[in-house]
Amino acid sequence: MHQNALAPPTASRSLSTRAVHGGREDLHALGVHALPIDLSSTYPVPDLVQGGLDLEAMAMGGHPTTTPVYSRLHNPTVARFERALAGLEGTDEAVAFSSGMAALTTVLMAVRQRAEGGRPGHVVAVRPLYGGTDHVLASGILGLEVSWATPEGVRAALRPDTGLVLLETPANPTLSLVDLDAVVEQAGRVPVLVDNTFATPVLQNPARHGVTLVLHSATKFLGGHGDVLAGAVATNAEWAADLRKIRVLTGNVLHPLAGYLLHRGLPTLPLRVRHAQEGAAELARRLLRHPKVARVFYPGLSAAADAPILRKQMRGTGAILAFTVAGGFEAASRVMASVELMTPAVSLGSVDTLIQHPAGLTHRVVEESARRSAGVSDSLLRLSVGLEDPDDLWADLEQALERS
Ligand SMILES: Cc1ncc(COP(=O)(O)O)c(C=O)c1O
Repeated sequence: MHQNALAPPTASRSLSTRAVHGGREDLHALGVHALPIDLSSTYPVPDLVQGGLDLEAMAMGGHPTTTPVYSRLHNPTVARFERALAGLEGTDEAVAFSSGMAALTTVLMAVRQRAEGGRPGHVVAVRPLYGGTDHVLASGILGLEVSWATPEGVRAALRPDTGLVLLETPANPTLSLVDLDAVVEQAGRVPVLVDNTFATPVLQNPARHGVTLVLHSATKFLGGHGDVLAGAVATNAEWAADLRKIRVLTGNVLHPLAGYLLHRGLPTLPLRVRHAQEGAAELARRLLRHPKVARVFYPGLSAAADAPILRKQMRGTGAILAFTVAGGFEAASRVMASVELMTPAVSLGSVDTLIQHPAGLTHRVVEESARRSAGVSDSLLRLSVGLEDPDDLWADLEQALERS
C-alpha cells in the first residue's frame, strides 16, 4: 500500500530496464523475488480512526497510508502494475481499470464532472478511432457533446467548454499517424488524451509531447498473451486522483489476478513488440507486391506525411498493419475464412497473429459515412502480427489470398 509513496522507476534508466524492474522496488525488503498477489477483498482495520481516514482519502482519489480497507478502493497488486506502467510512460501515475472501455468511460465521466456552469461538457475527437470508442462518443450516452475534427482542424473545433481532445495514433484500424506536438499546441489549455494501445510505451510516449492522458487497452500488447481484459490511463497526479475517485464510485476496478498477469508480462513487452514489429514490416513489404492487394496501411509505408511524425515521436512502426484486397467484402471475408495459422479474431497485440475485418466487426458500430471517410472500406483487413516466423505467416496469407 505505501507502495505508491515509492518513486516510479528511475526515468534515466533505459526502457528495457524499467520494463523489468518497475513496480518491484520493495521486493527485496519484503524478502521475495516474484511479484506477490494480494487477493483480499477486504482488509483488517486495526484502528478505526486511521481506517476511516484512509477510506475517506481513497474516496477522494487519494492513496491509503495504513490499510487499503476494501479492494474496490485499492489493491496492492494492481497498484504495483500501475506504478510500473507510469514508469514506462513517464507520467506521475497510472490508474488501471477492468477494460480499455472502462478506462475511457471513466475519463469521459471525469470530463463531464469538470464541466462548469451546468454545461454538459464538450469533447473534440479525431477519427478514425477504435469502433467502441467512436460508438461511446457518438451515442452521447455519457451526456457529453462531441465535435469530430481532422488533426489540423482541432483548434477550430474547440469551444469555451471543451474539456478534452481525443485521438489515436497510430489509429485503429488504418494506422494513420497524428502529429502530437501539433495537436497539443492547438489544444492549448485543453487536456489531450491519446490512445497509445497500438504503439505501446515501447514505441511512443505521448506524455513527452505534452499529452495529459495516455490510454491503453491493456488487453492488447501490455497483456500480450490474449488472456487478460484490462485498461489503464497514465497521467498526472491530479487527473489520476479524479480517475481513482470515479473508479471507487463505479467499481470499474481491475481484478488483482489480471493486474498480476499484466505486470508479469511487462518485462518482455519491449522484446515482444520489437520482434512482432519485424514480422509486420516484412509482411507489409510482401503485401505491397501481391497482385490481389490493392493498398497496404503501415506507418511509413502508406503516407509520405508519416516520415516526419515517425522521426519526431515514434521509435518504430509497430506490429499492426492493414490492407485492402481486390474484390471487396466477399474477397476480404474469404481471406479471413481461409487462414490456417493466423486466428480470424478481433483484438490485437497477442503473441499469435490475428486477422479481422474492421467494417464487419470492430468498426461495424461506427456510422457508415464516418467509417468510409476515415478509410475503413469493406475490403480492409487488419492484421495484428505475433511472434511467429514471418515466412510461415506469409505462406498462410498467400494461400488465403489465392483463395479470395
Ligand atoms: C485502440 C483501442 N482502444 C481501446 C479499446 C477498448 O479496449 P477493451 O477492449 O480492453 O475495452 C480497443 C479494443 O479493441 C482498442 O483497439
